[in-house]
Amino acid sequence: MSAAPRVAVVGATGAVGRIMLEVLVGRQFAASEIVPFASERSAGRELPGVGVVAPLREDTITGFDLALFSAGGATSREWAPRFAAAGAVVIDNSSAWRMDPQVPLVVSEVNPDALGRIERGIVANPNCTTMVIMLPLKALHDAFGLREIVATSFQAAGGAGQKGMDELAAQVPLLHNAREQLVSAGAAAIASIEHSIHAAPLAYNVVPWLGSPAADGYSDEELKLVNESRKILELPDLRVSPTCVRVPVMVGHCIELHATFERPVDHAGAIAALEAFPGVVLDELPTPVKYAGRDEVAVGRIRADPGDSHSLNLFVVGDNLLKGAALNAVQIAELLVARGLLRRHLAATA
Ligand code: A2P
Repeated sequence: MSAAPRVAVVGATGAVGRIMLEVLVGRQFAASEIVPFASERSAGRELPGVGVVAPLREDTITGFDLALFSAGGATSREWAPRFAAAGAVVIDNSSAWRMDPQVPLVVSEVNPDALGRIERGIVANPNCTTMVIMLPLKALHDAFGLREIVATSFQAAGGAGQKGMDELAAQVPLLHNAREQLVSAGAAAIASIEHSIHAAPLAYNVVPWLGSPAADGYSDEELKLVNESRKILELPDLRVSPTCVRVPVMVGHCIELHATFERPVDHAGAIAALEAFPGVVLDELPTPVKYAGRDEVAVGRIRADPGDSHSLNLFVVGDNLLKGAALNAVQIAELLVARGLLRRHLAATA
């Protein structure tokens, strides 16, 4: 194999896929070639500066060292194993493989050593909300021993892909006058505004539901926070109490965390641990608008719990499309290259 890997980006026309391409270029990822893939609808389309979109077919997926996927769970379930069988290591952004015990679930700064066991040729990229909180929680866990979190998210429309942002943008002009509309036409008129991606009209609104129904009134999005946090932090008994909320923000997820530790938490020690952790910045007033397009996860509003010396409140913000998805996938790719873990490379040097 040549020194530079050949890379596929599957879902290259989507909200995350487009940013994967930008991040690969922006970080000067040394690839011999980057090939964009998307659905049959987009095949043959020219992506400026990237190339022509290829269709997913047995004869088009060979000869890759790396495949970055963000095309939804069904596409990943079907095509990730095929890319892996053809010799690539797949980095998958969907939820399809995250909880498979043979698939490492990796946040590059938090558990890079999980890459030591890639049994299926697939590495999973965590859910965007989970991803963002893992950095500060790992920093604080190392300092104080994490026992329990209560996590309330404020998630951007872009977490539902391009369609999620388009739906919000289309509703904004319709609802700019929401109070008058409510008073004159009633809530039913607002509720009838077209929405298929978000669970209710999202413009000028807050929607306390995203994902599909799971167990005991929780959504699958909420259970991802529970299960993925435990797997990444290797804390199978971690207590996680999640609530996921969609807010009318285009890009940038926020999470209010109440975290409880084995040992008493001192405020200065918490700040020092967070400051020292890679990828984390402290900001007294972090907002999604400020951190859209930025690589770092911002942590602010750090407050000791007045009633419990073992607990802290903190507010975390991160770009769900960057650290929450595309950036972490590319950071995993960089680690695979740096550690010599690409399978075609391993086979060539065996
Ligand atoms: P396409 O643009 O051709 O539909 P988003 O998360 O923004 O909705 O983007 C989803 C991405 O996944 C898009 O690039 C989309 O391509 C791609 N995609 C959707 N369904 C398939 C499929 N069946 N096979 C390959 N790519 C798909």
